[in-house]
Amino acid sequence: PDWVVLDALNYIKDEIDPTLSHRWSCRMGVCGSCGMMVNGTPMLTCNAFVRDYPDPGRVSPLANFPIVRDLVVELDSFMDKLSSVKPWIIRKAEKDPSLGEYLQSPEDLDLFKQYSMCINCTLCYAACPVLAHDPEFVGPAAIALAHRYNQDSRDAGEAERFDIVNSGEGGVWACSYANECSEVCPKHVDPAQAVQRMKLTSAVQWLGVWPKKGSK
Ligand code: FES
Repeated sequence: PDWVVLDALNYIKDEIDPTLSHRWSCRMGVCGSCGMMVNGTPMLTCNAFVRDYPDPGRVSPLANFPIVRDLVVELDSFMDKLSSVKPWIIRKAEKDPSLGEYLQSPEDLDLFKQYSMCINCTLCYAACPVLAHDPEFVGPAAIALAHRYNQDSRDAGEAERFDIVNSGEGGVWACSYANECSEVCPKHVDPAQAVQRMKLTSAVQWLGVWPKKGSK
């Protein structure tokens, strides 16, 4: 009764079939590597108790990704999408380190903090109905990450991210707001909200107006 699904998979690998392939690392909902479909829903298997599922339960590889082997999926395209939105602080000019840190207020932090809690577990990609039909869609986690940096008071890279998140194919406009991504997020990030906010700001930016951070 105390086993999580990951315990069951590890038991199978240790005691029944050593050829079983699956990913995991931290076993405490932090690393994000143990995501799989559990009875059809994307879950962190270290965070899903066997007792909560009918017997027998069904575990399968994350949807919307190519399968490498058994329960291991190919993440290259996800990594490419993440890096495509330039998820780092971009500054027009660095100030001299002797002048001290870039200070932020608690209000500045509140603008992006929830989006920084993403652990790249890819559950939102497995849940996304748009990605199921359009593999080019940049996807919820990458858009939430772009939004996170756009909202950061230290960042000046919004214009550089504009073309990526607004591309006709694969950009924010492909999202149909099914909200499945936010439903499955184990860290309570709200990528669906980030996508809708990016749509709003993109529409305004398209008119040549760049809203101040925190105004969207
Ligand atoms: Fe790290 Fe599940 S093993 S999140």
